[in-house]
Amino acid sequence: MLTPLLVANWKMNHGITEAAEFIQFLENAEISSDREFVVCPPFTSLHLFKNIPHGAQNMHWEESGAFTGEVSAAMLKELGCTYVIIGHSERRQHFGETDDIVAKKVATALAHGLTPIVCVRSVDEVTPALVGKEIVIAYEPVWAIGTGKAATPEHAQDIHSQIRKRVGDTVRILYGGSVSAENASSLMAQPDVNGLLVGGASLDVNIFLKIIQS
Ligand code: PGA
Repeated sequence: MLTPLLVANWKMNHGITEAAEFIQFLENAEISSDREFVVCPPFTSLHLFKNIPHGAQNMHWEESGAFTGEVSAAMLKELGCTYVIIGHSERRQHFGETDDIVAKKVATALAHGLTPIVCVRSVDEVTPALVGKEIVIAYEPVWAIGTGKAATPEHAQDIHSQIRKRVGDTVRILYGGSVSAENASSLMAQPDVNGLLVGGASLDVNIFLKIIQS
C-alpha cells in the first residue's frame, strides 16, 4: 500500500511569526506514523522548518542565472526541502505555466532529488512527460479550489482511477480542493485517493492536524 501523503499548501499566507507558531505546535503534537505529511509555506519561511517536513510551492527549471525573482531547485535542497509543488492551477492561470513548463520543472526537480507534486486540473494534463517518473500527482478541479465545494468522494475516485491508468500503481494521487476536517476521511477512504493537498484548511494547525489524522 502507498503511504498516504497530506500536503499543506499555504499559498501566499503566513509570515515567519505565524510559521514559527505553527512549527512549535506541530513539533509538540503526536502524529500517527503511518501517514506522511509536508508543509509548503512561502519561500520566506522555509528556513524555519528544520524538523518538520517541508516543501516549496514553486521553482524555476534552470540551474541558475538571470531570472529575477526566481528560486532554483538547488536552493530548495539547501533549505532541506523534499517536495516541490509544480503546476498549481493558480500558477497555470496567473503565471502562464503550460504543460511544457511543468515538464521542464519536473525534470529539474527530479535531477536534484526533489519529489514534484504535480497539480493537474483534468486527466488530460497528465501528459506523457509525467508518466514513468517518481512524482506525486494532485488532482485539483478548479471549481473546488477555495470555493468550499469539494468534489464528492465518488467524483474524486472516478477521476483518480482514470489518472491511475496513465501513471500506474506506484504513483500517489492526491485530491485537492476545499478539503476540510469534515470531508477528509471520506475522500481518503477511496481506493485511488492516496492523500490530500490542503489549501485554506492547512493554515490552522489544529485543523491540519485533524486532517493528517483523519
Ligand atoms: P483549498 O486549496 O483547499 O483552499 O481549496 C487547495 C489548493 O489550491 O491547493
